[in-house]
Amino acid sequence: MKMKISQFSRDKAARGALAAAAVVTALAAVIAIIGASSARAQFGDDFGESGSSYPYHVPLGLNPPPVPADNAITDAKVALGKDLYFDKRLSQNDTVSCETCHNPMMGWTDHKPVSTGIHGQHGTRNAPTVLNSAYNQQQFWDGRAPSLEKQIEGPVANPVEMGFSLAGAAKRIGGIKGYAPLFQAAFGSPKVTFDRIEKAIASFERTVLTGNSPYDRYVAGDTKALSPQAAAGMALFFGKANCDACHAGKNFSDGDYHNIGVGMNSKHPDWGRYLVTKVEADRGKFKTPTLRDLPETYPYMHDGSVKTLAEVIKFYNQGGEKNKWLDPQIRPLHLDDAEQAELVAFLDALNGTQDQVAPPKTLPQ
Ligand code: HEC
Ligand code: HEC
Repeated sequence: MKMKISQFSRDKAARGALAAAAVVTALAAVIAIIGASSARAQFGDDFGESGSSYPYHVPLGLNPPPVPADNAITDAKVALGKDLYFDKRLSQNDTVSCETCHNPMMGWTDHKPVSTGIHGQHGTRNAPTVLNSAYNQQQFWDGRAPSLEKQIEGPVANPVEMGFSLAGAAKRIGGIKGYAPLFQAAFGSPKVTFDRIEKAIASFERTVLTGNSPYDRYVAGDTKALSPQAAAGMALFFGKANCDACHAGKNFSDGDYHNIGVGMNSKHPDWGRYLVTKVEADRGKFKTPTLRDLPETYPYMHDGSVKTLAEVIKFYNQGGEKNKWLDPQIRPLHLDDAEQAELVAFLDALNGTQDQVAPPKTLPQ
Protein backbone atom coordinates (compact mmCIF):
# COMPACT_ATOMS: atom_id res chain seq x y z
CA MET A 1 0.00 0.00 0.00
CA LYS A 2 2.78 2.37 0.92
CA MET A 3 4.46 1.78 -2.42
CA LYS A 4 1.28 2.65 -4.21
CA ILE A 5 0.89 5.89 -2.36
CA SER A 6 4.41 7.02 -3.05
CA GLN A 7 4.03 6.08 -6.71
CA PHE A 8 0.82 8.03 -6.76
CA SER A 9 2.45 11.10 -5.34
CA ARG A 10 5.34 10.83 -7.80
CA ASP A 11 3.10 10.47 -10.83
CA LYS A 12 1.20 13.54 -9.77
CA ALA A 13 4.36 15.51 -9.27
CA ALA A 14 5.62 14.46 -12.69
CA ARG A 15 2.61 16.01 -14.29
CA GLY A 16 3.51 19.30 -12.75
CA ALA A 17 1.77 21.40 -10.19
CA LEU A 18 -1.85 20.39 -9.97
CA ALA A 19 -4.66 22.50 -8.68
CA ALA A 20 -4.58 22.12 -4.91
CA ALA A 21 -8.26 21.21 -4.87
CA ALA A 22 -7.72 18.30 -7.24
CA VAL A 23 -4.87 17.02 -5.08
CA VAL A 24 -6.93 17.28 -1.93
CA THR A 25 -9.80 15.41 -3.55
CA ALA A 26 -7.51 12.68 -4.86
CA LEU A 27 -5.75 12.46 -1.51
CA ALA A 28 -9.02 12.24 0.36
CA ALA A 29 -10.11 9.43 -1.94
CA VAL A 30 -6.94 7.44 -1.38
CA ILE A 31 -6.93 8.02 2.36
CA ALA A 32 -10.57 7.01 2.53
CA ILE A 33 -9.77 3.75 0.75
CA ILE A 34 -6.87 2.73 2.94
CA GLY A 35 -7.99 4.65 5.99
CA ALA A 36 -4.46 4.74 7.33
CA SER A 37 -2.82 7.73 8.91
CA SER A 38 0.53 5.93 8.72
CA ALA A 39 0.50 6.49 4.97
CA ARG A 40 0.60 10.22 5.53
CA ALA A 41 4.34 10.10 6.12
CA GLN A 42 4.71 9.31 2.41
CA PHE A 43 3.44 12.65 1.21
CA GLY A 44 5.94 15.36 0.61
CA ASP A 45 6.51 18.48 -1.38
CA ASP A 46 3.30 19.39 -3.12
CA PHE A 47 1.12 17.70 -0.58
CA GLY A 48 2.26 19.44 2.55
CA GLU A 49 1.38 16.39 4.60
CA SER A 50 3.57 14.48 6.98
CA GLY A 51 3.58 11.85 9.69
CA SER A 52 4.32 14.32 12.42
CA SER A 53 4.20 18.06 12.35
CA TYR A 54 6.92 20.51 11.37
CA PRO A 55 7.21 23.29 13.96
CA TYR A 56 9.73 25.57 12.25
CA HIS A 57 9.57 28.46 9.82
CA VAL A 58 9.07 27.34 6.21
CA PRO A 59 10.44 29.72 3.54
CA LEU A 60 8.07 31.23 0.98
CA GLY A 61 7.38 28.84 -1.90
CA LEU A 62 7.73 25.59 0.04
CA ASN A 63 5.41 23.34 1.99
CA PRO A 64 6.51 22.00 5.38
CA PRO A 65 8.80 19.02 4.68
CA PRO A 66 7.48 15.57 5.54
CA VAL A 67 8.58 14.24 8.93
CA PRO A 68 8.47 10.47 9.54
CA ALA A 69 6.05 9.38 12.22
CA ASP A 70 8.83 7.60 14.14
CA ASN A 71 11.16 10.60 14.23
CA ALA A 72 9.24 13.64 15.41
CA ILE A 73 11.36 16.76 15.05
CA THR A 74 12.31 18.55 18.28
CA ASP A 75 14.72 21.35 19.23
CA ALA A 76 16.81 18.86 21.23
CA LYS A 77 17.21 16.47 18.27
CA VAL A 78 18.02 19.29 15.86
CA ALA A 79 20.67 20.71 18.23
CA LEU A 80 22.26 17.28 18.72
CA GLY A 81 22.09 16.56 14.99
CA LYS A 82 23.84 19.83 14.22
CA ASP A 83 26.77 18.94 16.50
CA LEU A 84 27.04 15.49 14.92
CA TYR A 85 26.85 16.95 11.39
CA PHE A 86 29.95 19.04 12.06
CA ASP A 87 31.81 16.41 14.13
CA LYS A 88 34.81 14.79 12.41
CA ARG A 89 34.92 12.12 15.09
CA LEU A 90 32.19 10.35 13.09
CA SER A 91 34.96 9.37 10.66
CA GLN A 92 37.44 6.62 11.37
CA ASN A 93 40.46 8.92 11.85
CA ASP A 94 38.75 12.17 12.92
CA THR A 95 39.39 13.96 9.62
CA VAL A 96 36.05 14.05 7.79
CA SER A 97 32.59 15.28 8.79
CA CYS A 98 29.38 15.71 6.83
CA GLU A 99 30.42 19.36 6.45
CA THR A 100 33.59 18.34 4.59
CA CYS A 101 31.49 17.50 1.52
CA HIS A 102 28.29 19.39 2.32
CA ASN A 103 29.57 22.79 3.46
CA PRO A 104 26.97 25.46 4.32
CA MET A 105 29.33 28.09 2.90
CA MET A 106 29.35 26.28 -0.47
CA GLY A 107 25.64 25.73 -1.00
CA TRP A 108 25.86 22.66 1.27
CA THR A 109 28.09 20.87 -1.22
CA ASP A 110 31.85 21.08 -1.92
CA HIS A 111 32.35 22.76 -5.32
CA LYS A 112 34.31 19.73 -6.54
CA PRO A 113 33.33 17.50 -9.46
CA VAL A 114 33.65 14.49 -7.12
CA SER A 115 34.22 14.60 -3.36
CA THR A 116 37.40 13.92 -1.42
CA GLY A 117 36.96 11.69 1.61
CA ILE A 118 39.16 10.00 4.17
CA HIS A 119 42.89 9.64 3.28
CA GLY A 120 42.31 12.01 0.33
CA GLN A 121 40.39 9.37 -1.60
CA HIS A 122 38.00 10.33 -4.39
CA GLY A 123 34.54 8.96 -5.02
CA THR A 124 32.89 8.81 -8.42
CA ARG A 125 29.90 11.10 -7.91
CA ASN A 126 29.23 14.77 -7.24
CA ALA A 127 28.01 15.65 -3.73
CA PRO A 128 24.40 16.83 -4.02
CA THR A 129 23.28 19.71 -1.83
CA VAL A 130 21.68 18.98 1.56
CA LEU A 131 19.41 22.00 0.96
CA ASN A 132 15.81 20.79 0.64
CA SER A 133 16.95 17.15 0.69
CA ALA A 134 14.09 16.80 3.20
CA TYR A 135 11.74 16.77 0.18
CA ASN A 136 13.49 13.91 -1.66
CA GLN A 137 11.38 10.77 -1.73
CA GLN A 138 14.61 8.76 -1.89
CA GLN A 139 18.22 9.80 -1.29
CA PHE A 140 21.37 9.57 -3.47
CA TRP A 141 21.60 10.07 -7.22
CA ASP A 142 20.39 6.50 -7.70
CA GLY A 143 17.84 6.55 -4.88
CA ARG A 144 19.36 3.66 -2.96
CA ALA A 145 18.47 5.12 0.46
CA PRO A 146 14.78 5.32 1.37
CA SER A 147 15.09 8.17 3.90
CA LEU A 148 17.38 10.88 5.26
CA GLU A 149 17.91 8.64 8.29
CA LYS A 150 19.10 5.64 6.25
CA GLN A 151 21.15 7.85 3.93
CA ILE A 152 23.53 8.65 6.79
CA GLU A 153 24.67 5.03 7.03
CA GLY A 154 26.16 5.41 3.53
CA PRO A 155 28.94 7.98 4.07
CA VAL A 156 29.86 6.81 7.60
CA ALA A 157 30.57 3.27 6.40
CA ASN A 158 31.87 4.16 2.92
CA PRO A 159 35.60 3.34 2.80
CA VAL A 160 36.34 6.39 0.62
CA GLU A 161 34.14 8.83 2.59
CA MET A 162 34.28 8.48 6.40
CA GLY A 163 35.74 4.95 6.43
CA PHE A 164 34.17 3.86 9.71
CA SER A 165 31.48 1.40 10.84
CA LEU A 166 28.08 2.21 12.33
CA ALA A 167 28.95 0.36 15.54
CA GLY A 168 32.37 2.03 15.67
CA ALA A 169 30.87 5.48 15.23
CA ALA A 170 28.23 4.88 17.92
CA LYS A 171 30.89 3.61 20.32
CA ARG A 172 33.14 6.61 19.66
CA ILE A 173 30.33 9.12 20.22
CA GLY A 174 29.16 7.13 23.28
CA GLY A 175 32.62 7.56 24.76
CA ILE A 176 32.42 11.38 24.62
CA LYS A 177 30.99 12.48 27.98
CA GLY A 178 29.70 15.80 26.69
CA TYR A 179 27.26 14.07 24.34
CA ALA A 180 25.40 12.21 27.12
CA PRO A 181 23.17 15.12 28.21
CA LEU A 182 22.35 15.91 24.58
CA PHE A 183 21.19 12.33 23.89
CA GLN A 184 19.29 12.43 27.19
CA ALA A 185 17.47 15.60 26.10
CA ALA A 186 16.76 14.30 22.58
CA PHE A 187 15.82 10.68 23.31
CA GLY A 188 15.07 10.44 27.04
CA SER A 189 18.20 8.44 27.90
CA PRO A 190 21.93 9.04 27.41
CA LYS A 191 22.39 5.83 25.44
CA VAL A 192 24.15 6.33 22.08
CA THR A 193 23.09 4.08 19.19
CA PHE A 194 23.58 4.64 15.49
CA ASP A 195 19.81 4.71 15.11
CA ARG A 196 19.73 7.75 17.41
CA ILE A 197 22.68 9.37 15.64
CA GLU A 198 20.94 9.12 12.28
CA LYS A 199 17.62 10.31 13.68
CA ALA A 200 19.30 13.40 15.11
CA ILE A 201 21.29 14.29 11.97
CA ALA A 202 18.21 13.76 9.76
CA SER A 203 16.22 16.08 12.05
CA PHE A 204 18.89 18.76 11.63
CA GLU A 205 18.86 18.27 7.85
CA ARG A 206 15.07 18.80 7.81
CA THR A 207 15.74 22.37 8.97
CA VAL A 208 18.13 23.06 6.08
CA LEU A 209 15.67 24.64 3.66
CA THR A 210 15.88 27.17 0.88
CA GLY A 211 13.02 29.13 -0.65
CA ASN A 212 11.93 32.76 -0.87
CA SER A 213 13.72 33.17 -4.20
CA PRO A 214 12.83 35.94 -6.69
CA TYR A 215 10.70 33.29 -8.45
CA ASP A 216 8.76 32.52 -5.24
CA ARG A 217 8.14 36.22 -4.64
CA TYR A 218 6.96 36.58 -8.24
CA VAL A 219 4.54 33.67 -7.85
CA ALA A 220 3.31 35.24 -4.62
CA GLY A 221 2.33 38.38 -6.54
CA ASP A 222 5.42 40.60 -6.64
CA THR A 223 5.52 41.08 -10.41
CA LYS A 224 8.77 43.08 -10.17
CA ALA A 225 10.66 40.21 -8.52
CA LEU A 226 11.70 38.77 -11.90
CA SER A 227 13.56 40.74 -14.56
CA PRO A 228 11.89 40.68 -18.00
CA GLN A 229 14.69 38.32 -19.09
CA ALA A 230 14.04 35.90 -16.21
CA ALA A 231 10.28 36.08 -16.80
CA ALA A 232 10.85 35.15 -20.44
CA GLY A 233 13.02 32.27 -19.22
CA MET A 234 10.21 31.14 -16.94
CA ALA A 235 7.84 30.93 -19.91
CA LEU A 236 10.39 28.82 -21.77
CA PHE A 237 11.00 26.60 -18.73
CA PHE A 238 7.31 25.72 -18.41
CA GLY A 239 6.72 25.81 -22.17
CA LYS A 240 8.90 25.31 -25.22
CA ALA A 241 11.94 24.05 -23.28
CA ASN A 242 9.84 21.40 -21.47
CA CYS A 243 11.99 21.51 -18.31
CA ASP A 244 9.03 20.97 -16.00
CA ALA A 245 8.42 17.54 -17.53
CA CYS A 246 10.92 16.45 -14.85
CA HIS A 247 11.83 19.49 -12.75
CA ALA A 248 8.30 19.77 -11.36
CA GLY A 249 6.70 20.90 -8.13
CA LYS A 250 7.83 23.33 -5.49
CA ASN A 251 11.29 21.78 -5.25
CA PHE A 252 11.67 21.42 -9.03
CA SER A 253 12.02 17.63 -8.92
CA ASP A 254 9.55 14.90 -9.79
CA GLY A 255 11.46 12.57 -7.46
CA ASP A 256 11.86 10.21 -10.40
CA TYR A 257 14.84 8.90 -12.40
CA HIS A 258 15.72 9.77 -15.99
CA ASN A 259 18.49 9.18 -18.50
CA ILE A 260 19.45 12.52 -20.03
CA GLY A 261 22.74 11.12 -21.31
CA VAL A 262 25.29 12.60 -18.89
CA GLY A 263 28.47 10.48 -18.97
CA MET A 264 26.91 7.92 -21.26
CA ASN A 265 29.63 8.30 -23.89
CA SER A 266 32.31 7.22 -21.39
CA LYS A 267 33.95 3.79 -21.69
CA HIS A 268 32.57 2.73 -18.34
CA PRO A 269 29.35 4.66 -17.76
CA ASP A 270 27.89 4.96 -14.27
CA TRP A 271 24.64 3.01 -14.71
CA GLY A 272 22.86 4.95 -11.96
CA ARG A 273 19.41 3.73 -11.05
CA TYR A 274 20.06 0.40 -12.82
CA LEU A 275 22.58 -0.49 -10.09
CA VAL A 276 19.71 -0.40 -7.58
CA THR A 277 16.86 -1.96 -9.57
CA LYS A 278 18.72 -4.15 -12.12
CA VAL A 279 15.97 -3.19 -14.55
CA GLU A 280 17.46 -2.77 -18.03
CA ALA A 281 15.36 0.31 -18.80
CA ASP A 282 16.90 2.07 -15.79
CA ARG A 283 20.40 2.21 -17.27
CA GLY A 284 21.93 5.66 -17.03
CA LYS A 285 18.99 7.07 -15.08
CA PHE A 286 19.66 9.49 -12.22
CA LYS A 287 17.38 11.26 -9.80
CA THR A 288 16.04 14.59 -11.00
CA PRO A 289 17.86 17.11 -8.79
CA THR A 290 16.32 20.25 -7.31
CA LEU A 291 17.04 23.43 -9.27
CA ARG A 292 17.02 25.70 -6.25
CA ASP A 293 20.21 27.60 -5.35
CA LEU A 294 22.11 26.43 -8.42
CA PRO A 295 24.48 29.45 -8.41
CA GLU A 296 25.76 28.08 -5.07
CA THR A 297 25.95 24.37 -5.90
CA TYR A 298 28.25 24.07 -8.94
CA PRO A 299 29.57 22.00 -10.62
CA TYR A 300 26.54 20.16 -11.96
CA MET A 301 25.28 16.65 -12.78
CA HIS A 302 25.94 13.33 -11.01
CA ASP A 303 29.56 13.33 -12.16
CA GLY A 304 30.14 17.07 -11.70
CA SER A 305 31.08 17.27 -15.37
CA VAL A 306 29.29 20.53 -16.19
CA LYS A 307 30.77 23.74 -14.79
CA THR A 308 28.24 26.46 -15.67
CA LEU A 309 24.50 26.87 -16.13
CA ALA A 310 25.10 28.17 -19.67
CA GLU A 311 26.75 24.82 -20.47
CA VAL A 312 23.83 22.94 -18.91
CA ILE A 313 21.40 24.78 -21.19
CA LYS A 314 23.63 24.11 -24.21
CA PHE A 315 23.57 20.41 -23.32
CA TYR A 316 19.75 20.35 -23.21
CA ASN A 317 19.48 22.49 -26.34
CA GLN A 318 21.40 19.90 -28.34
CA GLY A 319 19.06 17.17 -27.04
CA GLY A 320 21.21 15.76 -24.24
CA GLU A 321 23.68 13.01 -25.10
CA LYS A 322 22.32 10.38 -27.49
CA ASN A 323 22.26 6.83 -26.13
CA LYS A 324 20.07 3.77 -26.25
CA TRP A 325 18.25 4.67 -23.05
CA LEU A 326 17.75 8.43 -23.57
CA ASP A 327 14.52 9.73 -22.02
CA PRO A 328 11.92 10.54 -24.72
CA GLN A 329 11.36 13.95 -23.08
CA ILE A 330 14.92 14.93 -24.02
CA ARG A 331 15.17 16.23 -27.59
CA PRO A 332 16.77 19.17 -29.43
CA LEU A 333 15.09 22.39 -28.30
CA HIS A 334 16.11 24.83 -31.07
CA LEU A 335 16.59 27.73 -28.66
CA ASP A 336 18.54 30.70 -30.00
CA ASP A 337 21.26 32.43 -27.95
CA ALA A 338 18.85 34.97 -26.43
CA GLU A 339 16.45 32.24 -25.32
CA GLN A 340 19.28 30.23 -23.78
CA ALA A 341 20.35 33.31 -21.82
CA GLU A 342 16.75 33.78 -20.67
CA LEU A 343 16.65 30.24 -19.31
CA VAL A 344 19.89 30.84 -17.40
CA ALA A 345 18.41 34.06 -15.97
CA PHE A 346 15.38 32.09 -14.78
CA LEU A 347 17.57 29.43 -13.11
CA ASP A 348 19.47 32.24 -11.37
CA ALA A 349 16.14 33.56 -10.10
CA LEU A 350 15.59 30.27 -8.24
CA ASN A 351 18.43 31.22 -5.91
CA GLY A 352 16.82 31.44 -2.51
CA THR A 353 17.32 32.88 0.90
CA GLN A 354 18.82 30.42 3.31
CA ASP A 355 19.06 30.79 7.05
CA GLN A 356 22.78 31.10 7.70
CA VAL A 357 24.08 28.10 9.61
CA ALA A 358 27.41 28.58 11.37
CA PRO A 359 29.34 25.56 12.65
CA PRO A 360 28.96 25.00 16.42
CA LYS A 361 31.56 27.08 18.30
CA THR A 362 32.61 24.07 20.35
CA LEU A 363 31.72 20.40 20.12
CA PRO A 364 30.90 18.17 23.10
CA GLN A 365 34.04 16.82 24.82
C1 HEC B 1 33.49 12.36 1.31
C2 HEC B 1 32.38 13.21 0.98
C3 HEC B 1 31.07 13.03 1.70
C4 HEC B 1 30.84 12.95 3.05
C5 HEC B 1 31.86 12.93 4.17
C6 HEC B 1 29.40 12.90 3.22
N1 HEC B 1 28.80 12.96 1.99
FE1 HEC B 1 26.82 13.07 1.65
N2 HEC B 1 27.13 12.71 -0.29
C7 HEC B 1 28.34 12.69 -0.91
C8 HEC B 1 28.20 12.21 -2.27
C9 HEC B 1 29.30 12.06 -3.29
C10 HEC B 1 26.83 11.92 -2.43
C11 HEC B 1 26.16 11.32 -3.67
C12 HEC B 1 26.49 9.85 -3.70
C13 HEC B 1 25.62 9.03 -4.60
O1 HEC B 1 24.58 9.52 -5.04
O2 HEC B 1 25.95 7.86 -4.83
C14 HEC B 1 26.18 12.26 -1.17
C15 HEC B 1 24.80 12.21 -0.94
C16 HEC B 1 24.19 12.75 0.19
C17 HEC B 1 22.78 12.99 0.34
C18 HEC B 1 21.69 12.71 -0.69
C19 HEC B 1 21.18 13.96 -1.32
C20 HEC B 1 20.33 13.71 -2.53
O3 HEC B 1 19.91 14.68 -3.14
O4 HEC B 1 20.07 12.54 -2.87
C21 HEC B 1 22.59 13.52 1.60
C22 HEC B 1 21.29 13.96 2.23
C23 HEC B 1 23.89 13.56 2.24
N3 HEC B 1 24.84 13.10 1.34
C24 HEC B 1 24.13 13.93 3.55
C25 HEC B 1 25.31 13.62 4.22
C26 HEC B 1 25.47 13.57 5.66
C27 HEC B 1 24.40 13.86 6.67
C28 HEC B 1 26.76 13.22 5.91
C29 HEC B 1 27.45 12.97 7.25
C30 HEC B 1 26.93 11.82 7.99
C31 HEC B 1 27.42 13.07 4.61
N4 HEC B 1 26.49 13.29 3.62
C32 HEC B 1 28.77 12.81 4.44
C33 HEC B 1 29.55 13.04 -0.33
C34 HEC B 1 29.76 13.01 1.05
C1 HEC C 1 13.65 13.94 -18.79
C2 HEC C 1 13.72 14.65 -17.55
C3 HEC C 1 14.40 16.01 -17.54
C4 HEC C 1 14.13 17.11 -18.32
C5 HEC C 1 13.07 17.26 -19.40
C6 HEC C 1 15.04 18.13 -17.88
N1 HEC C 1 15.84 17.67 -16.87
FE1 HEC C 1 17.33 18.70 -15.95
N2 HEC C 1 17.92 16.99 -15.02
C7 HEC C 1 17.28 15.77 -15.08
C8 HEC C 1 18.11 14.76 -14.47
C9 HEC C 1 17.76 13.29 -14.31
C10 HEC C 1 19.29 15.40 -14.06
C11 HEC C 1 20.53 14.73 -13.43
C12 HEC C 1 21.26 14.03 -14.56
C13 HEC C 1 22.62 13.48 -14.21
O1 HEC C 1 23.28 13.98 -13.30
O2 HEC C 1 23.03 12.52 -14.88
C14 HEC C 1 19.13 16.80 -14.39
C15 HEC C 1 20.06 17.81 -14.10
C16 HEC C 1 19.85 19.16 -14.31
C17 HEC C 1 20.70 20.21 -13.82
C18 HEC C 1 21.92 20.03 -12.91
C19 HEC C 1 21.53 20.23 -11.47
C20 HEC C 1 22.58 19.82 -10.48
O3 HEC C 1 22.46 20.20 -9.31
O4 HEC C 1 23.52 19.09 -10.83
C21 HEC C 1 20.16 21.40 -14.26
C22 HEC C 1 20.69 22.80 -13.98
C23 HEC C 1 18.98 21.08 -15.03
N3 HEC C 1 18.83 19.71 -15.05
C24 HEC C 1 18.17 22.00 -15.66
C25 HEC C 1 17.20 21.64 -16.61
C26 HEC C 1 16.59 22.58 -17.53
C27 HEC C 1 16.85 24.07 -17.56
C28 HEC C 1 15.74 21.86 -18.33
C29 HEC C 1 14.95 22.33 -19.52
C30 HEC C 1 15.77 22.85 -20.61
C31 HEC C 1 15.82 20.48 -17.88
N4 HEC C 1 16.72 20.41 -16.84
C32 HEC C 1 15.09 19.41 -18.43
C33 HEC C 1 16.06 15.54 -15.68
C34 HEC C 1 15.49 16.37 -16.64
